[in-house]
Amino acid sequence: MKHLLLLSGECCELAKAELELFAGAKAIEQDGNVLIADAEKFDYSRPAFTKISAVFLFSCKKNELEKKIKEFEWQKYYKGSFFVRLVHIEQSMAGRIADIIWKKLKNPKVDFKNPKSVFVFIQQKDNVYCGLLLNENTEKFHARKAHKRPAFSPVSLHPKLARAVVNLTGIKKGIILDPFCGTGGILIEAGLMKLKPIGSDIDADMLKKAKTNLEALKIKSYKLLKKDATTIKIKADAVATDPPYGKASSLHKQNMKKLYSEFLANAYNILKKKSRLVIIFPNGISVKSKFKIIKRINIPIHKSLTRTINVLEKR
Ligand SMILES: C[S@@+](CC[C@H](N)C(=O)[O-])C[C@H]1O[C@@H](n2cnc3c(N)ncnc32)[C@H](O)[C@@H]1O
Repeated sequence: MKHLLLLSGECCELAKAELELFAGAKAIEQDGNVLIADAEKFDYSRPAFTKISAVFLFSCKKNELEKKIKEFEWQKYYKGSFFVRLVHIEQSMAGRIADIIWKKLKNPKVDFKNPKSVFVFIQQKDNVYCGLLLNENTEKFHARKAHKRPAFSPVSLHPKLARAVVNLTGIKKGIILDPFCGTGGILIEAGLMKLKPIGSDIDADMLKKAKTNLEALKIKSYKLLKKDATTIKIKADAVATDPPYGKASSLHKQNMKKLYSEFLANAYNILKKKSRLVIIFPNGISVKSKFKIIKRINIPIHKSLTRTINVLEKR
């Protein structure tokens, strides 16, 4: 099915990678942060960096929109009531568009509260893209930021990024391991997506904090273990992790590379063939391992810090 996807403008590359590696979406056309992609049905609530998911209906030039709306067979997508959702288009246009659609329908009904069909129109420069809405991302990532959780750590990932890291593993259900779990940022997102998160850390204090945070968000099916990531023996369907990095850590660059390399060697035995490990490294660091590199994405964290998300797959 052809999908119309509105990507979050912060990092289109990450948004696209998430859709490709989680949903198997194959990009057909991209116009700024509007993506048209081919994909089977997927859990539209999961991608963190996709704002809107819709069935692609048509696209046209802005000045041809009225003509196109008049020609389009709306009845095919009308399920009993409708609403027009405009993105980057003047809201005053909604009435005019709804009026034309209304005239094309048998038994038309507009419903502002619980419409059965939402027709979304997204303007991107001179083009307009139209779709049948499947999901609009309303995740409250800000409310879960590290400083808002009961147990704080300054090195915890932004929840939106933590969610994307989980999705890049491609996991749909089962056990996801974060062997450098810290205060539980990745585990929280995995738990909220109904996966079974297992977190381990070398530091008992961090594990206590992770427990407090997971409990506060009412996540039930988690497990926490005090283990060294370079030797932990456990089975998992995927691994998503954010190991220590940079100045905040007491590790020097050389020791850090050694830690990463020993961890990757151990992690190779944790996973089944074709399963993925997603790991964030400081920018510019690459570590040899038996894993196949599927993707590398550079992400700006703040002005002076860029990090690289590495998506690796067991051969
Ligand atoms: C960058 S923090 C992880 C942050 C985490 N994503 C969060 O949301 O809080 C890295 C963590 O790795 C842990 N760590 C360092 N060396 C380790 C090792 N060899 N095995 C397991 N954990 C280790 C540290 O205690 C720290 O909690």
